[in-house]
Amino acid sequence: MSNRIQIFDTTLRDGEQVPGCGLNKEEKIIIAQALEELGVDVIEAGFPISSPGDFDSVQALATIIKDATVCGLSRAVQKDIECAAEALKNAVRPRIHTGIGTSDQHVFTKLKLTREQVLERAKGCVSYAKKFVEDVEFYAEDAGRTDNEFLAQVIEVAIKAGATVVNIPDTTGYCLPEEYGQKIKYLVDNVRGIEKATISTHCHNDLGLSTANSIAGIQNGARQVECTINGVGERAGNTSLEEVVMILRKHNWLNYDTGINSKKLYPISRLVSETMNMPVQANKAIVGSNAFAHSSGIHQDGVIKNRDNYEIIDPAEVGVDKSSIILTARSGRAALNFRLGQIGVQLGKDELEGAYKQFLKLADEINVVDDPELKELAEEYVNA
Ligand code: KIV
Ligand code: ZN
Repeated sequence: MSNRIQIFDTTLRDGEQVPGCGLNKEEKIIIAQALEELGVDVIEAGFPISSPGDFDSVQALATIIKDATVCGLSRAVQKDIECAAEALKNAVRPRIHTGIGTSDQHVFTKLKLTREQVLERAKGCVSYAKKFVEDVEFYAEDAGRTDNEFLAQVIEVAIKAGATVVNIPDTTGYCLPEEYGQKIKYLVDNVRGIEKATISTHCHNDLGLSTANSIAGIQNGARQVECTINGVGERAGNTSLEEVVMILRKHNWLNYDTGINSKKLYPISRLVSETMNMPVQANKAIVGSNAFAHSSGIHQDGVIKNRDNYEIIDPAEVGVDKSSIILTARSGRAALNFRLGQIGVQLGKDELEGAYKQFLKLADEINVVDDPELKELAEEYVNA
């Protein structure tokens, strides 16, 4: 089995379902071009039947994007599939993503079908989509809560009907990593023909486990990960693309590769955050504003001596200029001296001691001491 992990970005479809963060066609084009430069394998451009605007956006991306596969979502409904096919007509690499709910919860209380009917619909939607495109991905919605035996039957039917990719969504973010990993392994071991399709993870973050679940999926045989920039998405969001990519890079002994240019992770995170008007939490892994900021004295001293003491990622690797030493009342003399050095001020031992006392008073008052305050504080010593 190849160790190349396909990155399927759904920022423009599942990610865009965040209330109040909808994107227009022009915004979608800008983000899609940035995603292509980032090196994603698949861009899920939208859900064409959902609105004329979304149809137009998918059609535009299908025309513009040349390297990545462009994917359109549909339910297991013929008119959805026809609409997706029409929107994707100009794509170099079109993919239709179609499927149906498989958990008892979805089958009986949402779809109000029997399991036999779900199997029929799964077969029907894949076969119908195959009339339009070769590359058909099947999703088993709420697979996370679906009993494995039935899930295996549905996936087998979908592959037999021609699905090239089978998506196993933990739609409600319910699974534990061990459980989700075992689910993927169960499918690998029990679905006839599974080697003909790529298994995909699609994990939501309701319990904060989406990244861990996606990695567990990979370790058990999934070779595509569905994710979004900054982890945006409905409710608590989707798996965060930058987290998965950096986990695989940092644990390179696992031997999994992606085609992602990691230096573009921070710039695209900013682009998506600004375009969607959705701030990134400061302590967000990889792309949060504090991800490479050090403010306690012990850590600062360690980082100044050798960055590897407290950083496992070189900020440049993800497109961040540099790590920062933030001056607060928790900072020590080493950090003050370092930051003074950065603004061209060198102080002797006694002067530094005096400056440090003054600095602590100021930091207690204003919390973070930035360059302008630092320059003012240093003036007394420079001009002495
Ligand atoms: O979360 C989910 O189940 C989905 C499917 C439509 C793929 O987004
Ligand atoms: Zn989803």
